[in-house]
Amino acid sequence: MPVETPAKPAPKRVEPPEQLSANPVRRVAEDVRAEFSVRRRGVYPPGPKNFSFGRTLQAARDPLPMLLSLYEEHGPIFSTRLLHHPVIFMLGPEANHFITVAHPENFHWRESSFGDLIPLLGDGLLTIDDAYHDRAREIMMPAFHREQVSAAVEAMVDEATPAIDRLRPGQVVDVYEWMRGLAMRIAMRALLGLDPDEAGKGAAAAEHFERALGFYGIDFHLRLLRGPGSPWSKMVASRAVLDEIVYDEIARRRADPDEGRRDILSLLLGVRDEAGEGFSAKEVRDQVMTLMFAGHDTSTSTLTFMMHELARHPEVLAKLCEEQDRVLAGATPDIDTLEKEMPYLEMVLDEVLRLYPPAWIGPRRAMRDFEFNGHSVRRAAYVNYCSWASHRIPEVFPDPEAFIPERFTRERKAALPRGAYVPFGGGRRICIGKRFGQTEVKLVATMLLQKLHLDAMPGRTMTVRQMPTLSPRGGLPMRVLPRG
Ligand code: HEM
Repeated sequence: MPVETPAKPAPKRVEPPEQLSANPVRRVAEDVRAEFSVRRRGVYPPGPKNFSFGRTLQAARDPLPMLLSLYEEHGPIFSTRLLHHPVIFMLGPEANHFITVAHPENFHWRESSFGDLIPLLGDGLLTIDDAYHDRAREIMMPAFHREQVSAAVEAMVDEATPAIDRLRPGQVVDVYEWMRGLAMRIAMRALLGLDPDEAGKGAAAAEHFERALGFYGIDFHLRLLRGPGSPWSKMVASRAVLDEIVYDEIARRRADPDEGRRDILSLLLGVRDEAGEGFSAKEVRDQVMTLMFAGHDTSTSTLTFMMHELARHPEVLAKLCEEQDRVLAGATPDIDTLEKEMPYLEMVLDEVLRLYPPAWIGPRRAMRDFEFNGHSVRRAAYVNYCSWASHRIPEVFPDPEAFIPERFTRERKAALPRGAYVPFGGGRRICIGKRFGQTEVKLVATMLLQKLHLDAMPGRTMTVRQMPTLSPRGGLPMRVLPRG
């Protein structure tokens, strides 16, 4: 007789999180209240907690040296006051592992210091937590499986080919701007399924997305301004245009579904949880907006920093070219080849992401009291992990400033302590677009270097800007050369 297995209880629909105020005065007041509450219940970990305009300015302009020297002085957990409130940093392998893998339940992203992204992104994966996050992530995972990324490769090749063809030997190109335009076109097609040349939709969406994002690259005090003509009101106006385009697309595709579409927006309209429930239109909108944000700057910066380091290390470039000639003989790679047959490319990418992890900070808020490395952290404290600083700790990565792809041979990578290398984060919030981003950067780099080389401009030094993601300050002009 067949044994009846009890039906698995359907997961309950989880209510969306509470909306936080976008009013900057309220947010500052809430920060002050939170600091009092933390101090009433304990002390902050060691570190400078007096107000210092100079320190705040340094943190806004070039936080890396400050973080590394505080790490040296205080160890893997310390506090520092930035602007009006203290922030706790936890650095190094154990700290990264603690936050991302061992105890993610202690933290929220939403109430972190990056919460001001919510007015643009809404409640997408980045800005939600706990059960609501986990359900959304489970629903979205199939859209990021290998076959889906493989389908996106077609859009990547179609877009990269003319962009590379436009580059001419002798010309000076701002690689950052070039890749930004290309990554935006790829995102429009692969994520939203829009034609980037269609004036009313794709092109408008790209333009307004860039404008809205611009808000997050300006200084903090300018972001507090409100009223007509302020950066905030411009961001809100661009958001309205984007919303109209995205909601229109959602309605259009719901009314006339096309099974053949492989873009992520279409996939998200079709995905269901175990109880057969899918996303609402608002949820789909927030998720794709978040994917656009998380996936566009990151790939742009990674490709740019890669070109910067390759121009400074001709021996690495030569090995990379030798590998691509041997494996591809001039052909365009597919995802299989990129993942399995080009180990040196992978090592170069790993080393670029060690030195310049674009999503350099993991912003969190403590949701409960906890202990780490002999120090107590109280609920409501701002806590960050930081891959950028963690990747430059000399005990973990000797000679940390040097660009050495050989650090990432398969054996040496496997021997790293857990939590040492976290360019994509870790645990249940590990980057959902990791494979998409890696594929995009590897593919564009390969196609570009099969045709051309890029040389540094004499006398120009590159400095890094860190908001909202790492990028070369003022772009990265380079001279286009024929392939050597
Ligand atoms: C080289 C490229 C990329 C890098 C270095 C990168 C890095 C990261 C990091 C470090 C996190 C975790 C942040 C944290 O712990 O607070 C993250 C999360 C995320 N990334 Fe990426 N990313 C890249 C590309 C992409 C792409 C292409 C997409 C989408 C198409 C994407 C979508 C996301 C999303 C949605 C999250 C939030 C995941 C969650 O919280 O469940 N990323 N990324």
